[in-house]
Amino acid sequence: MKISIVRFVVVSAVVFSIFSCQQKKEQKAESTIVSQKETVIDLVALFEKNREGKDTVITIVEDPVYHKTKRYKAVNALHLLQNELELSKIDSKNTKIVFECKDGYQPEMPLDLFLKAKPFIAYQDVDAPEGKKWETINKNGNEMDAAPFYLVYPAVSPKDSQYKWPYNLVKIKLEASNTNTAALYPKEDAQAVKGYDLFQKQCITCHALNGAGGSMGPELNYPKSVTEYWIEKELVQYIVDPSAYRHKVKMPTLGLTTSDSQEIVNYLKYMSKHKKSE
Ligand code: HEC
Repeated sequence: MKISIVRFVVVSAVVFSIFSCQQKKEQKAESTIVSQKETVIDLVALFEKNREGKDTVITIVEDPVYHKTKRYKAVNALHLLQNELELSKIDSKNTKIVFECKDGYQPEMPLDLFLKAKPFIAYQDVDAPEGKKWETINKNGNEMDAAPFYLVYPAVSPKDSQYKWPYNLVKIKLEASNTNTAALYPKEDAQAVKGYDLFQKQCITCHALNGAGGSMGPELNYPKSVTEYWIEKELVQYIVDPSAYRHKVKMPTLGLTTSDSQEIVNYLKYMSKHKKSE
C-alpha cells in the first residue's frame, strides 16, 4: 500500500513534468484547471505481483463484445482502485477515468459514473475453449481476443453508451476532466467550437492533437497537420467514409454528415496554427 502510493506520486510527478511545459501557456487563459496531476495504474504489473485482490465469477447478459451471455473470472475494479489510491481524496466530479488499450485506443468516462457502476475487471473467460484464456472475437474480419483485461459491468445495460467496455485493456488513468479541454479548446475562434466538440466525441479516443488523445490512429496535428497535406475536399470525404479511400481501413465509418466533417476540418485548420511548442 505505502509502496504503491509512493509509486503513483513518482509516476504523477514524471507525467506532470512531461506535460507541464506544454500547458504553462494555457494555464493563464484557462482558470478552471482542477489538477494537473495524472494517476496511472498499470493493470498488467498489478496482476503480475498478485496485487489485484479477490477474484470472483461474474455473468454478463448480452455481452456487448461477444453478443451473448458470458461468464468471466474477474476482480472488483473499485476494490482494486481503492487499494492503489485514496479514492476519497479524489475530486471525482472533476476527474475522468481513461482506459488505455493495447492498440492505443483510449476511451474515457466521468469517474463519478464509473464509481457508481459496479465495474469489474475480467481477466479470464470462463467459457473459453480448452487451453485458451479467451474466446476469439471476430471484428471486421480480424480475429482477436480480449486479453489481458476486459472491463465489464454486471449491473449496467450494455446498450447504455455512457459506459465504456474496453477490452485489451492495459492501463487505467485518472485525469482532471478538462485535461484535453484546456489544451485543445479553440479559445481564439468561436467558429471552431462545433468541430472541437465533434472531435472530442468522435475522434480523440483514437487520435491525438499535440500529443493529447489516443494513439490507435495517427496524431493529426504535429509536426504536420493533416490539413497541410490533404486536399481539403478529400479530407472532408475521408472522415465521412474512410473505407472509400483505403482498403481494410481500421478507422470506422462513424456516420458523420459532410457538414459535420467540414466543421471538424475547420477545427483541425485552427489547430494547425496552434501546434505544441517544443
Ligand atoms: C476507432 C479508432 C478511430 C476513430 C474513432 C477515428 N479514427 Fe481516424 N484513423 C484511425 C486509424 C487506425 C487511422 C489510420 C488509417 C487506417 O484506418 O488504417 C486513421 C486515419 C485517419 C486520418 C488519415 C491520416 C493520414 O494522414 O493518413 C484522418 C484525417 C483521420 N483518421 C481523422 C479522423 C477524425 C477527424 C475522426 C473523428 C471524426 C477519426 N479519425 C476517428 C482510427 C480512428
